[in-house]
Amino acid sequence: MSKDEFKQQFAAHVAEAFQQCYADKFQELGQQQVFDPDFIYDLLEKPKDPRMGRFALPVFRFARIVGDKPPTIASRIAEIFRKTDSVTITATGGFLNAQVDSATLATKTIGQVLEAQKNYGASSEGDGKNLLVEYSSVNIAKPFGIAHLRTTILGASLRTIFKKLGYNAVGINYLGDWGTQFGKLIVAFRKWSKEYSGKDITRIAMLFLLYVRFHKMAKEDKSLVEDARNVFRALEGGGDAKTTELWQQFRSQSIEEFKRIYDRLGVEFDLITGEANLNDKMQPIIERLEKAELTRISEGALVVDVDDTQLPPCLLKKADGATLYATRDIAGAFWRYEKFGYDQSLYVVANSQSDHFKQVFGVIKRLEEAEQTPDNQRLTPRLKHVDFGWVKFGDRAMSTRGGNVIPVEDVIDKAASLVTDMIREKNPDLENIDDTAAMVGVGAVKFSQLSVKRQTDVNFNWEAVLSFEGETGPYLQYTHARLCSLERKFGQPVTADVNVVMLDGEEERRVVELLADFPEAIADAARNYDPYFIAAHSLRLAGAFNKFYQRKAPDGRVDKIISDNTSLTAARMALVVSVRLVIGEGLRLLGIQAPEEM
Ligand code: ARG
Repeated sequence: MSKDEFKQQFAAHVAEAFQQCYADKFQELGQQQVFDPDFIYDLLEKPKDPRMGRFALPVFRFARIVGDKPPTIASRIAEIFRKTDSVTITATGGFLNAQVDSATLATKTIGQVLEAQKNYGASSEGDGKNLLVEYSSVNIAKPFGIAHLRTTILGASLRTIFKKLGYNAVGINYLGDWGTQFGKLIVAFRKWSKEYSGKDITRIAMLFLLYVRFHKMAKEDKSLVEDARNVFRALEGGGDAKTTELWQQFRSQSIEEFKRIYDRLGVEFDLITGEANLNDKMQPIIERLEKAELTRISEGALVVDVDDTQLPPCLLKKADGATLYATRDIAGAFWRYEKFGYDQSLYVVANSQSDHFKQVFGVIKRLEEAEQTPDNQRLTPRLKHVDFGWVKFGDRAMSTRGGNVIPVEDVIDKAASLVTDMIREKNPDLENIDDTAAMVGVGAVKFSQLSVKRQTDVNFNWEAVLSFEGETGPYLQYTHARLCSLERKFGQPVTADVNVVMLDGEEERRVVELLADFPEAIADAARNYDPYFIAAHSLRLAGAFNKFYQRKAPDGRVDKIISDNTSLTAARMALVVSVRLVIGEGLRLLGIQAPEEM
């Protein structure tokens, strides 16, 4: 991220002040880095209360070095700090608080937003870097259920965020299309599929029923399990064309159905691959592990121990020779590196699979150590499990169809129909209610997954998610639509060179500060692999704007944005357009569409 110029000014002066005040103390203890503005820059924090300043430097950590109490340090530095044109500081307890001149901040920030438009907040930090994001990774022949909703939404958003920062971000859908369960499914299909022909269910729902039925029957009839094992062996061997063809069919039919759901969600991938693709890529890795003497046999199975003593060994091959999920992930990390030469590879997968990824990464680490892979070629530091918490869906009404899975499509349908009702009530004259309702419904569902930190569990509750007033997607979309309507009403172009210094009320100042914070929110989202930071920023910005928008003039009437005062109106409209751009862009980064009317 490009650096904030006010922070830089501040850091430079503080570094200089430290040198003036305490040069010998820092030198004595070899702490000269405090004279480096970049070092100070990285220590800057955001005060909890924005009225305290744009940013602050806590000085507690220096107390021991210089032998002064923190408040003394702060006031000594504040005393000799050279006031710059735009930054002033005050010492408050153990903090140096920096205020940025509001007219300067407004001019710079609004100028930048209106100049850059949708590119505001973009950066080139990722230029030339390849970053893989694997997300969704649903299992074929099963309904696309809400268990895979959060990974789909989180990952798609991360892909967009990293693209904004200049990364060559590649979105991968790694389908669960391999494993012993396909032996079971094929056995079940051959035995019972005729009974389902003519029934009004989707192909996938049928396959899922067959799979469930297999498990029920296998409890009594053990020979089924043996049959399934043989069928999967044939599939892995690739010699049995009929079996392979059946599997192919399941796969392509599944992809077709998923595609429809991804389209409705507006989720894209650069590559759809799957576990099966790795079928012929595991043996060479297994051989490397054996050659490095990292494998051993345990109860007939081939395993690798991982350094983490809390974890059981990683299973590569079962006693019957079948490979496993982990074997494929190990081979997959190498395959993806060969194909993309990634700098980072993210796996957006629920935290219930944390141990799995620790094992997989642990095996790769041991292999690279044993093979003495040069540091700059190791995968280990590039691999990242982007884990996330549970989604608790309190909706029993929807879990009737096909076992206990709530299909994502039912959630989308329900969201859209509830939103249609809401719009019919609020804005019955709106054209294309259905299209808007689809955007808002999907937006609401997505926002519910992104507006809490990823490691926090989500409690999905229809009312809370769809409200136009709470901390929701519809609230942001509604705010955005209102901003668009103000622009339509104003009807004149708004350019970057408007004089905005008259935006000096408390409410406008807060809005400007939040506009200025947007690039940092994006950087935080990328650093933490969590779109939450953008969602939270958008909510703050919308809240601050709505406060300004609803502000009352001294006579008690709402202080209208568009008035007879042309220069004031122009300045306020520059703010309006800036907020519309930033909220719109925030929503885009979250994967949420922003209708112009709703
Ligand atoms: N298909 C798996 C499941 O539904 C998720 C795959 C996650 N990705 C991975 N590389 N293991 O549980």
